Amino acid sequence: MFQRFLRFTMKCQNPAKKFSTATQNNFKVCVIGSAGGIGQPLCLLLKQELMITYLNLYDIAKVNPGVNVDLSHVNTTPIVQAFTGCNVVVITAGMPRKPGMSREDLFGANAAVVYGFACAVACFSPCALVAIVTNPLNSMVPVFSEVLMRCGCYDPCKIFGVTTLDLVRASTFAGQISCADPSYLDIPVIGGHAGKTIVPLLSQSRPPLPSMTQEDIQKLTVRIQEAGTEVVKAKAGEGSATLSMAFAAARFVRSLLKGLSGEPVIECAYVRSCATDAAYFANPLVLGRYGIERNLGYGKLNAYEGKQLQEAVPILVKNIEDGVKYVIQKADIKPPTKCEPPKPPSKTKG
Ligand code: 2OP
Repeated sequence: MFQRFLRFTMKCQNPAKKFSTATQNNFKVCVIGSAGGIGQPLCLLLKQELMITYLNLYDIAKVNPGVNVDLSHVNTTPIVQAFTGCNVVVITAGMPRKPGMSREDLFGANAAVVYGFACAVACFSPCALVAIVTNPLNSMVPVFSEVLMRCGCYDPCKIFGVTTLDLVRASTFAGQISCADPSYLDIPVIGGHAGKTIVPLLSQSRPPLPSMTQEDIQKLTVRIQEAGTEVVKAKAGEGSATLSMAFAAARFVRSLLKGLSGEPVIECAYVRSCATDAAYFANPLVLGRYGIERNLGYGKLNAYEGKQLQEAVPILVKNIEDGVKYVIQKADIKPPTKCEPPKPPSKTKG
């Protein structure tokens, strides 16, 4: 009852709901994978964020120093410079999907990347809030978390899988159907970030959606679940969602920063959880000064959503198991505590 009341009173306006208006503006944010398809537009969006004083760009790509210089010419406040002691680290690095690939198919290529950066975060920014974008997200968050556990700096309240794009898509597509302004539609999406693990809660839309037939609800649900594949197909072999993902990740980073500055915000993200049998699960969270301030759970589901959830959980459990096993096997070969720090990019003042 109290949770419902709190959620209602906390709801202000989309995209993320806030409590007050006070903000701090001296945060240091690092984008790992800053030269990539998501990283570049994300850095551009964050370079316009007044709460950020230092924006750190890290990427192994040869072009990254150029991205640094390029971005440093934008006449906004954040100073573009190197990677240590960050408040927030965003991990976008990794391979994107090609047509015909599922997110799970990226595991082999991207687990090593996330593993390496988990070591680097443990060495250089162990207190940072970490927002992971790299796919397959359902397994990468467990990979990252397991490494930090072994490095002795794991805090489940500080590690987030970014599922914001699923919420952005849910409100966009629902807005198209209901002729509502999508930026004012708030539709929670729970579970994970791949196919059937993405469970939109259309029944919890604020404001409520106009009544729809069961067939329309199913069509809308599947469209949200398959939206990433829609982009992959449309890009015809040239990658997956980058601009909409950068938009969504920037919104999530902004919410983390507002929370850190003492202005709690509600956002969904994929985090360590007791909500279901899956050890990691996405649902609404209150973000505050230390990361997750409170896990709000997923509330009341209708029969269709309940069935979707039942199908999602065993898939999530398997995805999580894959991530945990990967670290257990790899840790036998090379303990993460002996990680090589990544070379920081050259300092460029913006
Ligand atoms: C998507 O949903 C890239 O996973 C991302 O499109």
